[in-house]
Amino acid sequence: MGIVDPVRNPYMPGAGRKPAALVGRDDTLRSWDIALQRAERGVTDQPFVLYGLRGVGKTVLLTQLRHDAQARDWWVVQVEAGANRSLREMLGEGLYEPLSEISRPSAGRRVLRALKTALSFKASYDATGTWTFGADLSGIPGGGADSGVLDTDLRKIIKDVSLAAAEEGVGLAILIDEAQDLSTAELTTLAVVSQAAAQDNWPVLFALAGLPSLPQTLAEAKSYTERFQFNPVEKLSHEDAHAAIVRPAEQEGVSWDGAALENLVEASGR
Ligand SMILES: Nc1ncnc2c1ncn2[C@@H]1O[C@H](COP(=O)(O)OP(=O)(O)OP(=O)(O)O)[C@@H](O)[C@H]1O
Ligand SMILES: [Mg+2]
Repeated sequence: MGIVDPVRNPYMPGAGRKPAALVGRDDTLRSWDIALQRAERGVTDQPFVLYGLRGVGKTVLLTQLRHDAQARDWWVVQVEAGANRSLREMLGEGLYEPLSEISRPSAGRRVLRALKTALSFKASYDATGTWTFGADLSGIPGGGADSGVLDTDLRKIIKDVSLAAAEEGVGLAILIDEAQDLSTAELTTLAVVSQAAAQDNWPVLFALAGLPSLPQTLAEAKSYTERFQFNPVEKLSHEDAHAAIVRPAEQEGVSWDGAALENLVEASGR
């Protein structure tokens, strides 16, 4: 009877935790990779929608999309809807970090413009807080993302930030988990803005993850669901479920007893 070495144990199950082996999601990952490359070449694809039951693996897949975008030096924002936060505030706060990282006095024209617009967007939901980006923005055009109309303001900030990303040779990825918790108005806005992005080829890619109700909710938001790329996230195939368990052990030079493996695959519901 062996005992698992707690230091070398590769298994760390838990909501949203990156599995030791992410298996069975090749189709979605390949489509995302193509979308990233297409956006860099000036063609913007429709938003990705990952939907499936609780615990099936949406969050870890969404996080992998983020890593893939980051590996190409994209600017990324990953947020989780719910907890009574508005989409406006979530995205505003999520944009702060990537924007502060690219802020520098010698930044290009579009980057400076995006920073200025971001300041106005921040002011639209936070009257007291402000950002300082360490670049002189007086006399820089931009701003105006504080009309209070979500469609208008989000469109403006997404446009200016993604065109700034293009100026730096990359794109902007916006990943929203638990998207079924967004309001109908917020989902409609996302549809409108992503549609504008695809039309004018701003290099921004959206990915929404949520429960199986999400496609229907999007449809009810009158948001032209044919403009989304729906990716169902299902339980793993028998083979992939095996691989998810066996591969991490193999890397430690450990093998599984066949019956034990079968038990675990069944008990976990793949
Ligand atoms: N493709 C995969 N290969 C191996 N393990 C996975 C895979 N997808 C998910 N897991 C594992 O399954 C568990 C649940 O994954 P995750 O938290 O992403 O599910 P979820 O769909 O976001 O759930 P919820 O709806 O509750 O938020 C985690 O422990 C994760 O590591
Ligand atoms: Mg999740």
